[in-house]
Amino acid sequence: MLAELACFKQKCGARFPIDEPIYNCRTCGALLEVSFRNGHINAEQWKKTWRERRTSNEVYDQSGVWRYRELLPFDGYHLQAVSLREGNTPLLSAPRAAEYASLQHLTFKHQGFNPTGSFKDNGMTCGVTQAIRLGKKRVACVSTGNTSASMAAYASAAGLDSIVFIPHGNISYGKLAQALEYGARTLQVEANFDQILALVRVLAERLGIYLLNSINPFRIEGQKTIIFEMMDQRDWIPPDWIVLPGGNLGNTSAFGKALRELRDIGLISEIPRLAVIQAEGASPFYEFMRNGGTFQSQPDPHTLATAIKIGDPVSWPKAFQEIEVSKGVVEKVSEQEIADAKAIIGRCGIGCEPASAATLAGIKKLTEAGVIGETDDVIAVLTGNVLKDPDYIYQYHTGQLKDPEGRNIDARFGNKPIVAPNDADAIARILES
Ligand code: F0G
Repeated sequence: MLAELACFKQKCGARFPIDEPIYNCRTCGALLEVSFRNGHINAEQWKKTWRERRTSNEVYDQSGVWRYRELLPFDGYHLQAVSLREGNTPLLSAPRAAEYASLQHLTFKHQGFNPTGSFKDNGMTCGVTQAIRLGKKRVACVSTGNTSASMAAYASAAGLDSIVFIPHGNISYGKLAQALEYGARTLQVEANFDQILALVRVLAERLGIYLLNSINPFRIEGQKTIIFEMMDQRDWIPPDWIVLPGGNLGNTSAFGKALRELRDIGLISEIPRLAVIQAEGASPFYEFMRNGGTFQSQPDPHTLATAIKIGDPVSWPKAFQEIEVSKGVVEKVSEQEIADAKAIIGRCGIGCEPASAATLAGIKKLTEAGVIGETDDVIAVLTGNVLKDPDYIYQYHTGQLKDPEGRNIDARFGNKPIVAPNDADAIARILES
């Protein structure tokens, strides 16, 4: 299908060629999105083709992103794409987590199975491919950790230089380690995510560096495939709810766009409701949806779920539209609720990073409030791998985890390691007690 960049604000309606290196509308400054001029659509045939590609040995068929290339704005250019075989993430049934949240069934779509361990890989393969199409040599992002890990990997795989900006002392070591290992030039800036994003936008403009934050519409296009793959895995039967954590709100806008596109071409009959969950200390979108009025950013966001420690989410206008269209909801959860939900997801043998566990904590709250029904068909998207933040896990299970105000978080589902002497009798006594 023919694609161009369009101002997200329909009132403005400005359009730009697909190969302009811009992120905001040149006319009104609003966010941009990819808009398709529908060419020849044969959705029934596409479904068959996508299924057949799963058995192919071609790189771009094996990728859980490029497999759906008919709905991406690269039109043949996918043959230049840099792929690490992203996507292909499983749907996992989790009875124990379902019971915890008073549901009959609960399914996780685990994006932590991606090459760098988070959902960012779905978007990054497209973002970096666009950088190649534009002839850019350097890419940059500000990140709470996962975007930087992903960008560093894809940029290196493509032979591009990558520059990562992270809030000093505020990302997990697992993620920082990835950026270093994949070879990104890494700057730890003494400011928070929102402040650094403003800084990086200035630098990108001045130095001609291609920006790969989620304001980049090609990242959003790639993240749409999380939904395409989810529906493909369910034989195109939508669930009642899709639940995801909300930080900068790029993923919420990607999911909503994907669902609208699938509905518009007749691949799903109804749009599931989106439920976006934020951490209490970083919940400007929740407050806006609850109180209305003008959007108020939070100057000093705080949460141990550092991935979603964002007070001024840049994609909130898009996310707002998607919540409206899907008749969705936004909820917030406490640090204790996130920590407990995370331990329960671990006990399912699944595991995830703290931000991802906000989903289960949010579902529990929403079922208790009667918003989600006990028999509803719910899919929660786990956005990051359990090994992204091992410090958090160790502290929780040993009763040392403290919230950002310094209050203890109870290890309600704690599983403390036991120090044992080198003595079979003593160990036998421990194991039999
Ligand atoms: N979950 C994880 C694990 C994340 O890393 C992020 C965002 C989110 C959820 C929220 O997604 O921003 O689209 O609403 N991480 C970004 C980063 C901000 O820099 O890695 P969002």
